[in-house]
Amino acid sequence: ELKENTIIIVLGASGDLAKKKTLPALFGLFRQSFLPRDVKIVGYARTKMDHAEFLKRGTSYLKNPNDDPELSKSIDDFKSVLSYVAGDYEDGSAFDNLNQHLEEIESHYQSKECNRIFYLALPPSVFIPVAKNLKEHCYVTKGGINRIIVEKPFGKDTESARELLGSLKKYWTEDETFRIDHYLGKEMVKNLLVLRFANVAMNAAWDKNSISNVQITFKEPFGTEGRGGYFDEFGIIRDILQNHLLQVLSVLAMERPVSFAAEDIRDEKVKLLRAIPPIERDDVLLGQYVSANGKPGYLDDDTVPRNSVCPTFAAATLWIHNPRWEGVPFILKAGKALNEAKVEVRIQFKDVTQGIFKDIARNELVIRIQPSEAVYLKLNAKTPGLYTRAMPTEMDLTYKRRFVDAQIPEAYEALILDALKGDHSNFVRHDELDVAWKIFTPILHWIDGLAGPRPRPVTYPYGSRGPKELDPFVSKYGFKRASEG
Ligand code: BG6
Repeated sequence: ELKENTIIIVLGASGDLAKKKTLPALFGLFRQSFLPRDVKIVGYARTKMDHAEFLKRGTSYLKNPNDDPELSKSIDDFKSVLSYVAGDYEDGSAFDNLNQHLEEIESHYQSKECNRIFYLALPPSVFIPVAKNLKEHCYVTKGGINRIIVEKPFGKDTESARELLGSLKKYWTEDETFRIDHYLGKEMVKNLLVLRFANVAMNAAWDKNSISNVQITFKEPFGTEGRGGYFDEFGIIRDILQNHLLQVLSVLAMERPVSFAAEDIRDEKVKLLRAIPPIERDDVLLGQYVSANGKPGYLDDDTVPRNSVCPTFAAATLWIHNPRWEGVPFILKAGKALNEAKVEVRIQFKDVTQGIFKDIARNELVIRIQPSEAVYLKLNAKTPGLYTRAMPTEMDLTYKRRFVDAQIPEAYEALILDALKGDHSNFVRHDELDVAWKIFTPILHWIDGLAGPRPRPVTYPYGSRGPKELDPFVSKYGFKRASEG
């Protein structure tokens, strides 16, 4: 249930995440009347800005290219719920000042029970002081609810994540905390639960008896330009695999939860992740892009340290030791500066047993998460005509063709709405994060040079499909290209 008398406070309101994701998502919800009727949104950041300046910046990503009058009206209405307070992140008195501003807003509410949702669109260096200051200076105690929404990076390995979570826990309970992994808000990731458990036909084939290998792939067509300094500290594994792709894997592979209740779902995800041992070095391929076709290489970025061996591409194969999945490789792949923008799950089924058909393509179920959401099944059908010959074809559920008028929500819209309702299903629980780190920490320490010499990534040209070593890597795990039959 949505609560009336709610203020949403966006900390880091002048930063990129807030401008590009948080505020547009809040606007999307506001426009569709999904926010509480009397909601107010307060931005907080270090940058000194007056009200007008904040309105301008905060709405700079709300586009209205055709000057649609209805949209302009919504943007104006949205502006009327926004306000801004400038202040430091470490300084308690600045938070007293924020609190005064919130109390002033609340004095206009009918009921005394007011709710505050704090969204931290902030770099990790200030997570702890902000969490502490919010608790000590801005926490409502008069019966309303307080919630805090945080987003990665949650540490850099098991130990640092434990330390960070431990510190945040001193101020905010698990119930009050909503850890975002925005992939869990994506429509097609949410769809996995339905596809799997609302379809006997899918469910029956969802195991090692039918499936040969699974690939979860993330491709971006641009490099780390401008963000190189940040990226170099983390690398592609921490940026994408350990969180986004592992979350997709866990929903894809978990057992059926007893119910839709958040704890039931998260219990199953944790159980699944605990059955995955730490990734072995032999199961990893690392790459770094180099300049090609006039595009700069990773090392050409001035913000990247010279000679950095940080991977901008990684493939890692995970094994799940449980009766359903024993022996099935789950290959996670992610890369920057590749040939296209695409995120997909590709489940490749086993060969048909030899007999009447030889050398025919394997079935594949592909769930395209973005762009152009789709589910399609590659299967063999009889070539139409007066002879019996099988040919590969597809059963295709492309969303924009099948659900012509459907509006697919933005991930952040879905997640902010869940947080407002207090639904934790699509947020990462503390023990889930802990197992996720355990799976990746040993290879991350190896890559960071904490366990002997640092591995050197292979190179791949900007705009390519990835390193040339990728094809042999995936075939090692039994993946067959359609042309291989
Ligand atoms: C973020 C990563 O978590 O996800 C970025 O830090 C990446 O590097 C982004 O570009 C991808 O998100 P989306 O929703 O565009 O696939």
